[in-house]
Order: sequence, then C-alpha cells, then structure tokens
Amino acid sequence: MKTVAVVGTQWGDEGKGKIVDLLAADADVVVRFQGGNNAAHTLVVDGEKFILRLIPAGALHPGKVCVIGNGTVVDPLALAEEIAALRARGRFLDDDLLKLSCDAHMVLPYHRAIDRAREARAGRRAIGTTGFGIGPAYEDKMARVGIRFDELKNPRRFGEKLARNIAEKNKYLAAMLKAKPLKAKEIANQLGRVRARIVPYLCDTGAFLAEAIAAGRRVLFEGAHGTMLDIDHGTYPFVTSSNCIASAVFSGAPLAPGRLEAVLGISKAYTTRVGAGPFPSEIKGVLANRLRTEGEEFGSATGRPRRIGWFDAVLARLAVRLNGMWGLALTKLDVLTGMDPLRICVAYQFGAKRYDEMPPGRGVLERARPIYEELPGWRESLSGARALGDLPTAARHYLERIAELAGVPLAMVGVGAAREATIVLNNPFRD
Ligand code: GDP
Ligand code: IMO
Ligand code: MG
Repeated sequence: MKTVAVVGTQWGDEGKGKIVDLLAADADVVVRFQGGNNAAHTLVVDGEKFILRLIPAGALHPGKVCVIGNGTVVDPLALAEEIAALRARGRFLDDDLLKLSCDAHMVLPYHRAIDRAREARAGRRAIGTTGFGIGPAYEDKMARVGIRFDELKNPRRFGEKLARNIAEKNKYLAAMLKAKPLKAKEIANQLGRVRARIVPYLCDTGAFLAEAIAAGRRVLFEGAHGTMLDIDHGTYPFVTSSNCIASAVFSGAPLAPGRLEAVLGISKAYTTRVGAGPFPSEIKGVLANRLRTEGEEFGSATGRPRRIGWFDAVLARLAVRLNGMWGLALTKLDVLTGMDPLRICVAYQFGAKRYDEMPPGRGVLERARPIYEELPGWRESLSGARALGDLPTAARHYLERIAELAGVPLAMVGVGAAREATIVLNNPFRD
C-alpha cells in the first residue's frame, strides 16, 4: 500500500512517534495533518532520544519530505526552535525537506496566554491542557479571525492583523481572565525575527501531496493525540480541539477521500491519560505506580505524571470503528512483565446495564464501572523479542485476546522504546 495513516486509539502517547519513525523507512513523505505542539512524539534512534512536537516523525531518516498540513495549528516560534534543536544535533539539515501549509493557522502568544489564564481560573473544572494555546488557536480559526501562515508573505498586512488581534485579546485577557495584557510590539518583533526563516517552507501541501501520490510516492500520515481526545468523538469536554481520527487526513493534509489505503491504530498494552476527564479502567496505588515507573509514564510535553489503567477493549472497538482500522500496533508490551494477573476491561457496568460498546451520552462514562477479564501474566523480559515465537505463551495469549476483543488484526508489537524493539507482523507499506 502507498498511503497509510497512523492514529492514536486511546488518550494520546500510545507510541505513535516510534511507529511512524519505523514506518518512515518505507515512506517518501511523512505528513502531520492536525494538532500542534501539544503533541510530543518520542523517537529513540541509535540510542539517542528525540522528542518531536511539530516536525513529522520522518525527520530522522535522511531524505524524507516532512509536510505540516493545513489542519495543524503551528506556533512559529516553537517551530523555529524545534528546527534549530534538531540542527544542533546534526539532524534535519536540508531546508527543502520541510513543507509547511500556507493555510495552516498560527498559534500566537495570546493564544497561550488565554489557554493558561483560563486553566488557572477553572479550578476543579480545568481540562488539564498542555497550556500551549491550542484550543484558543482553533477557536480563532473557526471564528475566522485566525492568522494563516500565508499572511507572512505580506508583512504590512500581517502586522496590522496581529495588532488588531492583540488589542482585542488584551481586552479579553484583562476583563474576563484578570490576566496581564501582552505587549504588541514585543510580539511583533519576536515574529519578525522568525519570519524570514519560516517563509521558505511555505507550500500548497494539497497540490504537493497530489503530485507526490500521482508520481507513485509512498505517503505516511502521522496523527497526533488520540481517538478519545477527538473534539467530536472523544470524552468531551476533556479533549483537544481538533479531530484526531483518520478522517482528519482528508481535510487537514489534505488527501482526497478514497485515496487513503490503510489506517494503523496505535495502542498501549495498557492505558494512560494526561489531564482530567473520565477514565473507566483507571487504577491507582501500588500497581499504578509500578506501571508508571516501569513505563516511564510522565508526559513528554509537560512532564506531568500520566494516569494509568488497564487495557480497555470498549475504547479499542470504538477506535476500530471510527478509524476504519486495517491493523493495530500494540506498544509497551514489555512494561507488563511481572504483572500477574493482567486485566482487560471488556465492558462497562452502569446501574443494572452492561455496555459492551461505548455508551451514548458520554456522561455515563464518568460513573461507569469496568468489567474485567483476568489473564495470566509472565515474568520473562520481552525486550529482545523480534518475532511472536520469541514471546512467552502468556504474552501471546494476551495479544490474541486483545486482537479478538478489539476486532482487528495485530500488525506490530512494541517491546522497547528503540526503533528496532518491535515485532513487525505486517508492514502496511509492504502489504
Ligand atoms: P506518542 O505521543 O504517541 O508518540 O507517544 P509518546 O512518545 O508521547 O509516549 C510513548 C512513550 O513510550 C515514549 O517514551 C516512547 O519512547 C515509549 N515507547 C514507545 N513504544 C514503546 C515500547 O514498545 N516499549 C517501551 N518500553 N517504550 C515504548
Ligand atoms: P500526543 O500526540 C496526551 C491532552 C491534554 C489535555 C487535553 C487538552 O503526544 O499523543 P490541549 O493542550 O490539546 O488543549 O489539551 O488533551 N493532550 C494530550 N495528551 N498526548 C497528547 O499528544 C496530547 N495532546 C493533548 O493533556 O488533557
Ligand atoms: Mg506524546
């Protein structure tokens, strides 16, 4: 297959970055199509760790074109910093390899200020956002007052629009959020300094991708966040502000519907979540602490400890349906070594009713109790496994049961953070 999308099936941090980096070896182009630098995708390559926020996770392979599509929101200062940090490590040196959509919206300092001030005032109702201004930037896009990257080509018009927006946002910050106003001149100067660095990357990404596909190139679409953080289908309002499911490729890369050949969903062998909101299979105490430590479950974007839970097959089934998943990559199986017994949430109980599928009206989720199935664990280290046959029987049974409950074939299994620590059963680009 030649066009493949990778999406998260849980609440983010499933290990998308690692799998995209692995698949990128067989791709020519890697594309981000939604979200912004609220994403943090970790890659471990040749023993070195990289965290990519905006740059697609193909960047560590020489010669791959990295595209940031129109559906993303991009903080130009963060983008310039990320490029500089990669260059300082001798990576991603060729300017021609980055294409940024002219139509992508900018995340500007006032978005960040609004995001943080709102969260600080929300108290118990806080979403636990990353604080990078993502929600306010998408709000402006939808309200048709956002600033797109194309505007950088005309500095005078850009300056006027920026000044107008800052004046308005300052009123909102002061009156509604009791926050300090921002200095318009300072922001204009900061952006002025990165302008010349960003303009050469600007591109009509739709036309670029159509041409690449027509020429037979392989294109990998890199989702950010996860299905349960999707603005429409996730645990609203405890979600992010973009569509994170595979269909966002069609509006946000963009790719024409019908052109996407496979969707690979990524899931951890258990579940994590950063930030507030319902989490039926959440566990606390000693067990959770152990998984958090073993799995290094601290947010790559903000360093916050991730909440921990058992694998949730109800979520998995929803993700399979919403994303039309071709296969599942299950990551971090190695982290479960020594946990015995293992549990899988197979359904929810609410009152007298059992829900095998996600209940409508997500309010139910807040109080739903998980119904678990127990499976035996294993004690062997899995980190050297490169084929299913290298795994202990109990680990193979755990995988088989997850695939059966989710209703999708397993395509990959992660047994460590490094690129090569993966059992590849089916590579969509080689299918
Ligand atoms: P993403 O946002 O979906 O790309 O995921 P993150 O990078 O935020 O979080 C996943 C974390 O798990 C990172 O620290 C990865 O290096 C690590 N990781 C990914 N796959 C595996 C795996 O199979 N085993 C282990 N032990 N770590 C993994
Ligand atoms: P990756 O791509 C995990 C969560 C935040 C918060 C909610 C809203 O690395 O998987 P936002 O800043 O987007 O307005 O925050 O969404 N969130 C993520 N959690 N991984 C992510 O991205 C996330 N992106 C957003 O923690 O609960
Ligand atoms: Mg992440």
